Amino acid sequence: MSDYDIAFNEFIKKRGFFWQTADLYGGLAGFYDYGHLGTLIKRNWETIWIDYFLNLGDNYYLIESSNILPEAVLKASGHVDHFTDVLVECSKCKETYRGDHLIEEKIELKEELTDLDVIFKYIQDLKIVCDKCGGTLRKPMDFNMMFPLIVGSTGKDKGYLRPETAQGAYLNFYREFNALRRKIPMGLAIIGKAFRNEISPRQGFFRVREFTQAELQIFHDPKNFNELFDFKSVKDYKMNVCLVKDRVEGEFKKISCKELLKITGLPEFYIYHMAKIQQFYFDILQIPKEKFRFYEKSDKERAFYNQIHFDLEVNFQQLKGFKEVGGLHYRGDYDLSCHQKGSSKKLSIKIDDGRKILLNVLELSFGVDRNVLALLDSNFYIEDGRNILRIPPYLAPYHVGIFPLQKKDNLDEKAKEIYRTLRKKFRAFYDEVGSIGKRYARLDEIGVPYCITVDYETLDKKNPDFDTVTIRFRDSKEQIRVNVGDLIDWLENKIKLNL
Ligand code: GAP
Repeated sequence: MSDYDIAFNEFIKKRGFFWQTADLYGGLAGFYDYGHLGTLIKRNWETIWIDYFLNLGDNYYLIESSNILPEAVLKASGHVDHFTDVLVECSKCKETYRGDHLIEEKIELKEELTDLDVIFKYIQDLKIVCDKCGGTLRKPMDFNMMFPLIVGSTGKDKGYLRPETAQGAYLNFYREFNALRRKIPMGLAIIGKAFRNEISPRQGFFRVREFTQAELQIFHDPKNFNELFDFKSVKDYKMNVCLVKDRVEGEFKKISCKELLKITGLPEFYIYHMAKIQQFYFDILQIPKEKFRFYEKSDKERAFYNQIHFDLEVNFQQLKGFKEVGGLHYRGDYDLSCHQKGSSKKLSIKIDDGRKILLNVLELSFGVDRNVLALLDSNFYIEDGRNILRIPPYLAPYHVGIFPLQKKDNLDEKAKEIYRTLRKKFRAFYDEVGSIGKRYARLDEIGVPYCITVDYETLDKKNPDFDTVTIRFRDSKEQIRVNVGDLIDWLENKIKLNL
């Protein structure tokens, strides 16, 4: 591990971002709890995601649905039969591995491996043995990643923890469609937990068994979907894209939306949404432009429900390369057609022009925890031996810190008065412990963009700086004086996010 990795991991745990669930008892692999700072950043990300993506249409809404689903739903959706990963077991100690990951750790592959025989051949050719005991590895098999459950006391009702939030939107489609006066396109977004029994979650917080997804399902008529978006407004916008045909590890090309349309023949609406997603990463999350790309999935690699599939990837310093944080999935009418068949209820609708159709789905899918990790990873710096989190102000756990220069001479009373006023409008943090330098350093480390200090000038009626405070900037370390009465406007202006 590099010094950066050690410092980052310590920072995450010590300052209250996240750690393994039940670590008091040795932990539970693949499960994590958020501490107070992690929870604040996650909530901020979710709020901004809702504001940005629900604004892409005028008939898009947030709903909430159950974490537990009956077996019939997931049988109909294809998850019972197809939601699998490749499991390889050690013949001696029974340790399990994800087959494709075993190979990827040894050699660079052009395409993800899915075929059991091909994976076994690689294992044999590369002489891969159990990492733990050196035993030989058995023939790979498919392993269903859902957590099964028995619901109720009779033992008859089988269910599963949901493997994706998307199913909640499909199940509620018809009720919402009627409640929303049968308007299309209709967007249903869910932010909530998803559960996957990952075979061997070795990448810490990145690959876990319980995680949060933010997913928007846009139900639309494929015949006129292109016309609903202003493709011209993004035609010259350059996208970071890695297409299947020119895959090179860690690289991407910058291609304008217009060119992408020409090269790939993807639908305009799909490219338009790619652009909107990239703008979210560049302009809102402020992920550095060289650290984000769209990664096209091949026919073999994409999920069983997808017709078009690009992953959204961020280059993580911690994980040494581009990793998936989300996906843009064109699911066609796969889902509504499955549930129409599975439930024997009619989900097709009559369109104004008289056609009777099943609406198609464009899915914008994001792993919230991976995005939180990406924010921390791309904004964490070590400068002059000190940690600093340069997170955008509106995403920061606290907007502002308030300190008295010293804890005496009424400076603390005045600082507390300002704190009590500001905390009604902002995420504010009061600190009077330790030297002022230490207090700045503590708040720099957790990403607080502005610190207000009440000093002797603030209270001295004869001083020209009477009733002003110092504001110190996290990133530039610049300090300015602002009137106490202007603080709310000043801060509002600084932390506002123009969507
Ligand atoms: N509804 C589509 C869907 O679930 P997915 O690619 O399987 O698509 C979407 O998952 C996102 O959920 C991923 O891009 C990733 O960010 C997140 N995700 C998936 N599995 C995860 C895991 N084991 N741990 C953390 N996040 C995960």
